[in-house]
Amino acid sequence: MKRESRLFTPIAIGGLTLPNRIAVSPMCQYSAVGGSATDWHLQHLGSLSLGGAGLLIIEATAVEPEGRITPGCLGLYSDANEAALEPVVALCRRWGSARLGIQLAHAGRKASVEVPWEGGKPLTVAAGAWRSLASSAIPFDEGWPAPQALDESGLARVRDAFAAAARRAARLGFDLVELHGAHGYLLHTFLSPIANRRGDAYGGSLEQRMRFPLEVAQAVRQVWPRERALGMRITGCDWIEGGLTSEDAGIFARELETIGFDYVCVSSGGISPKARIRVAPGYQVPFAECVKKMCGIAVQAVGMIVDPNQAEAIIAEGRADWVALARAFLDDPRWGWHAADVLGAEAHCPPQYHRARPNLWPGAALAKAARGG
Ligand SMILES: Cc1cc2nc3c(=O)[nH]c(=O)nc-3n(C[C@H](O)[C@H](O)[C@H](O)COP(=O)(O)O)c2cc1C
Repeated sequence: MKRESRLFTPIAIGGLTLPNRIAVSPMCQYSAVGGSATDWHLQHLGSLSLGGAGLLIIEATAVEPEGRITPGCLGLYSDANEAALEPVVALCRRWGSARLGIQLAHAGRKASVEVPWEGGKPLTVAAGAWRSLASSAIPFDEGWPAPQALDESGLARVRDAFAAAARRAARLGFDLVELHGAHGYLLHTFLSPIANRRGDAYGGSLEQRMRFPLEVAQAVRQVWPRERALGMRITGCDWIEGGLTSEDAGIFARELETIGFDYVCVSSGGISPKARIRVAPGYQVPFAECVKKMCGIAVQAVGMIVDPNQAEAIIAEGRADWVALARAFLDDPRWGWHAADVLGAEAHCPPQYHRARPNLWPGAALAKAARGG
């Protein structure tokens, strides 16, 4: 007899209960104007909201204009940004089944670059470059401008900007907020000894390097409703000698737990182009597993999780509590339905599409075989 799928069992993240353990990972779309969502977001997120994932997390969303990676990045720093997200949230709510999260971010020293399909290099002044920020005035790479090291007033401004954006997210009705503490962006530049060379209370020991990210976490915790979910994407490994390790991530996760965070997503990389990342199926799961052993909050695994049986095994073996998938959902926005078919489980499908499900469509078996399953 087939065992009941663990991937398709409900999970409580703080006050939020999800019907399954599948999240669509945040993915920048570089299609906003002045930080405001466009009709690209409507169709992109609308489509992903009905593909069977329990949760859909909207892309890295900047808390101040300088915190955008590119001029096309989403923001939540103005009334206009907030108003532009309203129809996106309404559309996903009306037609989709996924609960909605948003990732709040500040790009730090990796801000002010071209969108990837235009090269992804630092913007020139003529193209509208702006001053990037970091823990220390060390450029991300050769040929990149030196960021400005945040001083006391800058730290307070950024911290307040995270809290203000979280208030806007609460007003918009999001179910979950995730802070971006990974991938070399601003909060990660504080945590990682590779980027943080400060001599004050915000640099040096791990305890001091955690200080600013924890102040931000605290400020957001104060304004984000307790009955909704709150988490952070953290770094399980810098992939570089002297960088952050999964033990550091576990210590940080414990601090977030103390503040009242509900989960961490354990990612890796991005702090330096010198890092040598060994990408393979589930390559970041061991970091999630280590963090899970060290803290009591829910741990999400991400990174090259593609196959439903692989996702099922991660949960069934207790290596993580839930998973996030990015590219697999771009490739197949109905990944949740297809995973449910493979695992003998149920995923929500809107009635408009019922006639393409296996019980009503003989072609479904052919489609599944064509996908290799
Ligand atoms: C197009 C694209 C945009 C991304 N944007 C973000 C982002 O906004 N925030 C973030 O934390 N990660 C971002 N990522 C990383 C993914 O969320 C995910 O961690 C990574 O792709 C590994 O998962 P995967 O193998 O399932 O794609 C992005 C990835 C892709 C492919």
